[in-house]
Amino acid sequence: MHWTNDLIFLCMLDKYLISMHNARMSHAQRARTSSDVCFVRAYAKINLTLDVLGRRADGYHDLATVMQTVDLYDTICLTATEDSQVQLACTKPELSNDDNLVVQAAHLVRQRLAIRQGVLIELHKHIPMAAGLGGGSSDAAAVILALQQWWRLHLSLSDLLDMATSLGSDVPFFLTGGLALCEGRGERVTALAPYWPRSMRWLLLLKPAISISTAAVFRNLPASDYSDDTHSRAVSRALNAGQTPQLEDLHNSFERSVLGRYPEVARAKGDLLQAGAPFVRLSGTGPTLYAPFSELANAQKVQEQLQSQGYEVYLSRAIHPNVVDVNVY
Ligand code: C5P
Repeated sequence: MHWTNDLIFLCMLDKYLISMHNARMSHAQRARTSSDVCFVRAYAKINLTLDVLGRRADGYHDLATVMQTVDLYDTICLTATEDSQVQLACTKPELSNDDNLVVQAAHLVRQRLAIRQGVLIELHKHIPMAAGLGGGSSDAAAVILALQQWWRLHLSLSDLLDMATSLGSDVPFFLTGGLALCEGRGERVTALAPYWPRSMRWLLLLKPAISISTAAVFRNLPASDYSDDTHSRAVSRALNAGQTPQLEDLHNSFERSVLGRYPEVARAKGDLLQAGAPFVRLSGTGPTLYAPFSELANAQKVQEQLQSQGYEVYLSRAIHPNVVDVNVY
């Protein structure tokens, strides 16, 4: 940050420090920084299991799901601006608006700590949108974590979880990423040991050429497709013990209804199997399908086959980010 910007920023923070009254905010927010650019990566996820347990009185559904981050990521660049606005420039014009979760995340952090520093968010999308890969949620979590580190904000774990949960059910998972069992609405996150089966070393992610609304998929799920949390618990137990989960436990409550309602997804699953994928599952509410492989050469062969048929296919792997991937310049 140039010294003039630095001064303006510190003055804003000083005003905030002076105006802090209540006890919750009494810890000093020494958000000092000498840099004005911050990059962060936001990784996608897949759901190894997704058990929908039932509908709740608040309209949400109780879930048990095992999620894993994968190395397909969006890149976010945050730049300090001279005004007090939050602006977004996204490589996908349809996402360049104030409804985008990254904008909401930045507003939330600024409001919570009464910070007026302006920020430009540049969002380079690689993760397909409305795809079941958690891209929007991951972007939001990445912005919270980046601002915390860049502005050196004293946010407790419960502050972070609170903000993440208010942005979306999947956002808390992305505060840590890796491998986790998520329950409740998705916001109760229990980290699992970072074990990943050899037979799943390489992952093909196939995104059929349709977008699916999460809310619509939840709404259209018949109660007969609800399950208990047996699959998610069995998979968590196996992975924690360093064992490969049983194939039948890699269950997604949405798969039957999504394949039935969207023929493009059913066709893509058939084509993946036909091309040699050992098994295929839906990620989240879809439409993305994932297929694990133990050998890179096999994954690549199937990818090339599917790409020649016109499909959008990514070759990926499980990733366990140890530290938040934030770079400050
Ligand atoms: O929490 P999020 O905003 O990502 O959820 C999007 C929509 O998905 C919700 O409005 C709700 O309709 C549905 N949903 C649900 N139960 C969950 C998570 C999401 O019904 N546990």
